[in-house]
Amino acid sequence: MAIKIMGTGSALPEKIMTNEDMTQLVDTSDAWIRERTGIGSRHISTGETVVSLAAQACRRALENAGREAAETELLLVATCTPERGIPCAACQVQSELGAARAVAFDLNAACAGFLFALHTAWAYIEAGIYRNALVVGSEVLSKIVDWTDRSTCVLFGDGAGAVWVERSERGGIRGFVQHSDGNKGAVLQCDSRELHNPFASVPSQTPYIQMDGREVFAFAVRQVPACIQEALEQAQMTVQDVDLYVLHQANKRIIEGIYKRLGAEPEKFPINLDRVGNMSSAAIPVLLDELNREGKLKEGMLLVLSGFGAGLTYGACVLEW
Ligand code: UT7
Repeated sequence: MAIKIMGTGSALPEKIMTNEDMTQLVDTSDAWIRERTGIGSRHISTGETVVSLAAQACRRALENAGREAAETELLLVATCTPERGIPCAACQVQSELGAARAVAFDLNAACAGFLFALHTAWAYIEAGIYRNALVVGSEVLSKIVDWTDRSTCVLFGDGAGAVWVERSERGGIRGFVQHSDGNKGAVLQCDSRELHNPFASVPSQTPYIQMDGREVFAFAVRQVPACIQEALEQAQMTVQDVDLYVLHQANKRIIEGIYKRLGAEPEKFPINLDRVGNMSSAAIPVLLDELNREGKLKEGMLLVLSGFGAGLTYGACVLEW
């Protein structure tokens, strides 16, 4: 028996912010942003939350899969921007959906979060603990972006994507790999609340994204192709066997670097970052949902999903649609 994605859904905030709008805030230009990143606009929350976006994406994934919320046995939300420390976003989504039976918890692996959550769902289902899962990536990155820092604020967007996963007769996940490199954590970070109690306090922290863009770029172009190769070997497949590479949408030049290193055809690498920017854990499921609704995912197609980002974390998954 295989474990397969049977439905997809996504939700984006209504407000669209163009590169031109960005020039009102920081010293930048549409030309610079497009040339260096490929991004043209992004959706920014004017009140939508990680939970409301996730719940909407889940409703659409359930509808797409022909399932009811009440059937959900496992609900995983990958996010690095939850509204609350407690309760976790997944429990709030569970309540909004009425998925009373689901076991719900969050998982944070930044831009690899959705992929790591998908693999976690696979492991639970494969072990026979649960029969199905809703796996979500949801982010409101606009609240942790420093809107005075032109080197980061132009990159990110808000949104959520979800998939319904269950056992199937055919197709499904054929192999996956995951990696973490905590020694490189400082190249992309965002502080949380400060320690401040009767016994100790720590110096003031920076609750905004801080990034060494060049280091992240170099890491992605070097490690992601190797990681994809590793997952393909596990699935006993080659680069040429793959029909579509659904990659984390961080930067068009990173995606170019990856297909060049792999020796794969560029047209196998769909891109939506021009319209949505980098949505961290939401990037892969939102792109997957777009492809699915456009009818571009046909049964039997071979896909590679790959996420990479802060942690550092990175991984790849090979699956048959
Ligand atoms: O999910 C993973 C998240 N992280 C990433 O995806 C980041 C990966 N890295 C990148 O995408 C790229 O490194 C960036 C897009 C962030 C930056 O591109 P770059 O080609 O590496 O530019 P740079 O940092 O080397 O900066 C080149 C110049 C600098 O000016 P000087 O020092 O040459 O005068 C920057 O100050 O571009 C300047 N610059 C900008 N200019 C206009 C930086 N940001 C901007 C901006 N508009 N928004």
